[in-house]
Amino acid sequence: MSDLEQLFKAALKARLQAYVPYSKFAVGAAVLGADAKIYAGCNVENVSFPCGTCAEAGAIAALVSGGCRKISQILIVADSKNLITPCGACLQRIAEFAEPDTLVHLANLAGVQKTARFSELLPLAFDEKDLRK
Ligand code: THU
Repeated sequence: MSDLEQLFKAALKARLQAYVPYSKFAVGAAVLGADAKIYAGCNVENVSFPCGTCAEAGAIAALVSGGCRKISQILIVADSKNLITPCGACLQRIAEFAEPDTLVHLANLAGVQKTARFSELLPLAFDEKDLRK
């Protein structure tokens, strides 16, 4: 199985665990780490809505907990005819562990519908060098 197929499978599997009693919108995300391992997460909502977390946040937490700090590729999947793109906060979360050329795969249940480089999605990411005056 290719990296992309494994990412898609892992994201679909994580999506099935999504806790989405409020939006009913299940999302799965899977990251291929620079360590060649795959880390996945789902969205986890909360009755206090802002406390909910996106699938990407779960996958990134799994990556870091697993001892890896570099995203080689990331895939996000939802059941949507439209492309699901990471929300603004998740783009910033991805920015922390990705490079401008990191591939971001956007998928629905039928498969990957678009692949973009991270820099296309967040061209002017706030990063560590912006902390320096
Ligand atoms: N959601 C994600 O998990 N990832 C995204 O990139 C966009 C939105 C979740 C948050 C919430 O649980 C549901 O989708 C509806 O917004």
